[in-house]
Amino acid sequence: MNVLVIGNGGREHAVITALSKSPKVNKIYAMKGNAGIAELAELVNVDYCDVKAVGEWVDQKGDIDFTVVTPDDPLALGLVDELESRGHKAFGPRKNAAIIEASKAFSKELMKKYGIPTAKYETFSDYEAAKAYVETCDIPVVLKADGLALGKGVLICKTREEALVGVKEMMLEAKFGNAGNTVVVEEFLEGPEVSCLAFTDGKTIKPMITSCDHKRALDNDEGLNTGGMGTFSPAPFFGEKSAKEVMEKIMVPTMYAMNSEGRPFKGVLYFGLMKTKDGYKVIEYNSRFGDPETQVILPMLKTDLMEIFEAIVEERLDGVDIEWEDGACVCLVLASGGYPESYEKGKEITFGNLDSDITVYHAGTAMKDGKLVTSGGRVLGVVAKGKDIEAARKKVYENAKKIHFDKMYCRKDIGIKYKDITKV
Ligand code: AMP
Ligand code: GLY
Repeated sequence: MNVLVIGNGGREHAVITALSKSPKVNKIYAMKGNAGIAELAELVNVDYCDVKAVGEWVDQKGDIDFTVVTPDDPLALGLVDELESRGHKAFGPRKNAAIIEASKAFSKELMKKYGIPTAKYETFSDYEAAKAYVETCDIPVVLKADGLALGKGVLICKTREEALVGVKEMMLEAKFGNAGNTVVVEEFLEGPEVSCLAFTDGKTIKPMITSCDHKRALDNDEGLNTGGMGTFSPAPFFGEKSAKEVMEKIMVPTMYAMNSEGRPFKGVLYFGLMKTKDGYKVIEYNSRFGDPETQVILPMLKTDLMEIFEAIVEERLDGVDIEWEDGACVCLVLASGGYPESYEKGKEITFGNLDSDITVYHAGTAMKDGKLVTSGGRVLGVVAKGKDIEAARKKVYENAKKIHFDKMYCRKDIGIKYKDITKV
């Protein structure tokens, strides 16, 4: 099969690496890809948020058998619907299901209606009403812009003053653009966080191995929120009892809720969960693979990823056995100095002799005058497996020392958190 993968980050490099190992896959195209992806796929320079242009390209190409839509924007814009309407096979939720990520107001309402555990909340489209609520609500409080905001539309407000400024910035000053026209004001929850991703065809839901993200820019979870500075798998506190609770109270009810709403979800459903004193609660849904979670999940997948994608599109996931390796996996993100705020691009990247069992996924890289250079905030993900997280973590940091570019920075504490929490 010839497969087109939409996207250009480390997550897509991991997806394409897994697909390239499938005996079913002949040639891979990546729209738009990056310098690392270019070693496995032919790059296609079309704006993938222009869903009509993507549909036309696939029509004209004529030999694309399957398209994998990975990023949130084209899913929310209806790229899967567009491709299907032109008679092409595409992996990912349709627009009416991708809304589970694209609108926090929708997902909160869904959870309330179907009794899926989540933080208590109120939704506001009127600034005065939001302000009045925030003047008296419990503090800390969490403000969330309704729409997609690159993972940055969430403000954790430790004081009332911060919350009042936040509401004003979101609703009156459009700090997150239109995403902030509607704001969800949410109860502050505490506890360790886990990313539980699952494959689903709308009839069956099969969880992947768990992972944990490090969203803040600096060590000890300080600094600004980012797209993710590193991940590790599995979550040390997540045992069989947790898996059962999450499956019964969150995953299955969500799949049925989407069906009941006439929005069957097919693709990867990502449950961002917090383990609170009252059990697991949903912090967010994503309608796709996480980044950089995928970089620690797919290296552990033993089953053919293409086989899983096809089974989901054809609604026969129940017949596929999904197998995972034992052990652990760690991904360290090497970022451009200044990220997630402004940073410079075009810095040359050099590699020393990396161990043969290290994988480097490219995120923001490009080729310029024959040299590999930085082209984004998150540049590379250095990934290693090990018998446990500590072993994988050690390997990652030893090898990351051999990679250089001007103003490179990374967190020093990826994979350390949560190790003292009892596994249940
Ligand atoms: P989100 O984009 O919704 O995943 O939020 C980003 C991060 O903000 C999450 O990973 C949490 O660490 C934090 N967060 C979001 N909602 C809450 C909440 N209700 N209580 C505490 N922390 C939260
Ligand atoms: N790592 C979080 C996300 O992909 O949204």
